[in-house]
Amino acid sequence: MAARLIKDGVYAVGAIDWNEKHFHGHTYVTRRGVTYNSYLIVDEKVTLIDTVRKGFEKELIENIKKIVDVSKIDIIVINHIEPDHSGAFPEILKLCPNAKIYGTEKARQGLLKYYGLSGNWTAVKSGQSLNIGRRTLDFIDMPMIHWPDSMFTYSAYDKILFSNDGFGQHYATNKVFDDEVDFAALIDEAQKYYANILWPFNTLIAAKLSAISKLNLEIEFIAPSHGLVWRRHIPEIMQKYLYWSSHSCQNRVAVVYETMWNSTKKMAKKIIEGITSEGVEAILFDVTKNDRTDIASYMLDAKGWIFGSSTHDGEMLPVLAGFLHFLKGSKAKGRKSFAFGSYGWSGEAAGDIENTVSSMTAFEPSLRVVFNPTGDELDKCFETGKTFALKIKNEKRK
Ligand code: FEO
Repeated sequence: MAARLIKDGVYAVGAIDWNEKHFHGHTYVTRRGVTYNSYLIVDEKVTLIDTVRKGFEKELIENIKKIVDVSKIDIIVINHIEPDHSGAFPEILKLCPNAKIYGTEKARQGLLKYYGLSGNWTAVKSGQSLNIGRRTLDFIDMPMIHWPDSMFTYSAYDKILFSNDGFGQHYATNKVFDDEVDFAALIDEAQKYYANILWPFNTLIAAKLSAISKLNLEIEFIAPSHGLVWRRHIPEIMQKYLYWSSHSCQNRVAVVYETMWNSTKKMAKKIIEGITSEGVEAILFDVTKNDRTDIASYMLDAKGWIFGSSTHDGEMLPVLAGFLHFLKGSKAKGRKSFAFGSYGWSGEAAGDIENTVSSMTAFEPSLRVVFNPTGDELDKCFETGKTFALKIKNEKRK
């Protein structure tokens, strides 16, 4: 990626990882690739905001060199230490060893653990600021958005909020601004990002959004460390964050299942027919054929969560079990559910499902059939889906 001007004196100098399709180990399928955004501010003190992932140092250094010699960097702000942002820090520090480093105390401790160095560090927190010439940078603690060390940095002079993981999207592109790409695709990636990275921290995010709002910051740009810089659609993404972090839901249903001999699949199809008969939106996900990233993104604001599994060796099937284990981390709440599935002689899967995610959702009685569903049993699946949809429709939306 070439360095791109964000605003006079502020440049995007990060890297594009076009082929990163599995982020965070294998927890997040990043079909559009990933960017590691880093920003360079050229003022009396040349300041670098965040670095990039290890392996992308060369791209970062080349981009910086197009603007200033790397040795001229006076200040490095570390908003977050996760290796996708801090991996290049040791290499950059070698090229500007006298740079002063600013970040939270937790970030310093984390960098020491990762790299055995943290440079000439000044610990900062909310309410503290740093003058770099015409600009003053304000630091805002953002613990757990995304790790305990996280913070945002705000430049009032530029009206830019450097938000690191906040407001990010995994969207590799040679474009820089939100209005340079398809808006629907961008929001889709922002939702996927929220569901797969930030969902567990809803309560903290809601509190921090409220705190930021009280600061009355003038924001013309939100510059995250993944994906596009928001400039045209700031109200929309702010509204989305308020909505997602409030545990709000739409009248829609995710039917997520795994099947052995298609009996549970037959049930799933009848259930969704019943839901559809009431005009409620629903998507059927065979958990073995869909990325958990996409399923979680849809479930983020789906009021109804229905899970189905055949019983295998006294348990639910393993791919669904893995997905529910992953989903449990979201700490979602306020959903409606039932479990279903076929079994041969014991039928524990439905109970297994309920036990796994009951902290997040209220279960209605399960629907179980022996071996293969009869016509009457399929009619019951239809009716159960229909009744469930009616309840979803009639429940007051939060
Ligand atoms: Fe993009 Fe939490 O790192």
